[in-house]
Amino acid sequence: MTMNTMQAAIIREAADYIRSRTSGAAPEIGLIMGSGLGILGDHVTDAVTISYKEIPHFPLSTVEGHAGELLIGKLAGRQVALMRGRFHMYEGYGPELTAFPVRVMKALGAAKLVVTNAAGGINTSYEPGDLMLISDHINLQGRNPLIGPNEEELGPRFPDMSEAYSRRLRAAAKKTAEEQGFALREGVYIGVLGPSYETPAEIRMMRAMGADAVGMSTVAEVIAARHSGIEVLGISCISNMASGILDQPLSHDEVIETTERVKSRFLGLVVGVIPSL
Ligand code: 6GU
Repeated sequence: MTMNTMQAAIIREAADYIRSRTSGAAPEIGLIMGSGLGILGDHVTDAVTISYKEIPHFPLSTVEGHAGELLIGKLAGRQVALMRGRFHMYEGYGPELTAFPVRVMKALGAAKLVVTNAAGGINTSYEPGDLMLISDHINLQGRNPLIGPNEEELGPRFPDMSEAYSRRLRAAAKKTAEEQGFALREGVYIGVLGPSYETPAEIRMMRAMGADAVGMSTVAEVIAARHSGIEVLGISCISNMASGILDQPLSHDEVIETTERVKSRFLGLVVGVIPSL
C-alpha cells in the first residue's frame, strides 16, 4: 500500500464507521463550530452524537470549552454533520490531522462547509462583537495540509484557491444578515499557529499585508475543503481587538465573554443561512 492509498483508506474507515452509526440521509453540509459555539449542536434534530474518541483515526480535542463530538442530523431543514470542537495546530496536531475531519465530511457526502471561529480584530474600524464574513485568507501558519504525496481521488495536486470562500455563499450570508437586521463585516482572515497571541509589531505587519482579523484555526480546514471541491462559508466573531490597538492586554477570557455576548446573533446567522446554501 502506498502512502496515497493509505490516506484515502483511513478517511474511508472513519466515514464507514460514522455511516454505521447513522441511518438517515447523508449530510449535505458540514459545520465546524468555534469556541463557545458548539451549542448550535443542541438545535440539530434527530441527532446521532458520536464522540471523536469512538471514530477510527479521529484526533482528540484538548482545549477547554471544545467538546469533542460529531453530530449528524437535521438543521434548518438540511442534513448536516456538525463538529463540536475542532483541532488546532497549537494543540500539537499536524495540519493533515486538523484537516482530517473535513475530508471525512466530504467522504460522507458534504458539498458545503460552514466554518466559524473567534478572531482578533486587526482592522481598527472593527469592534469586539462584530461578525465578519471571511472573504479570503492568508496562510501564515507555514504549514499546509496537502503536503505529502497527492492522491488524485481526494483532489488535485495544485488546487486553485482563487475563490476559497464562495462568492455565492457570501452573498447568501449577507442577505440573511440584512433580513435579520444587523451589519456584517467582510474581510481577510489571517491564520497563525498560536498559541501565544501576536505582538503589536506582528499585528502592524499583518495589517500591512491586508489582513482584517487574526486567528489560530480555519486555514488548514479550508485548504482541505477546497482541495476536495467543497464550497466554503467562513464567519469570524471579532472577540477582541488584536495586540497593540487598545491599551490593554489580551485574554482568552475576553474571547469567551464576547463570543457569549454575541452567540445568539452568530447562531441566528448560521441557522438562517443554511436553507439558502
Ligand atoms: Cl488577537 N490572535 C489570535 N491569533 N487568535 C485570536 C485572537 C488574536 N483573538 C481571538 N483569537
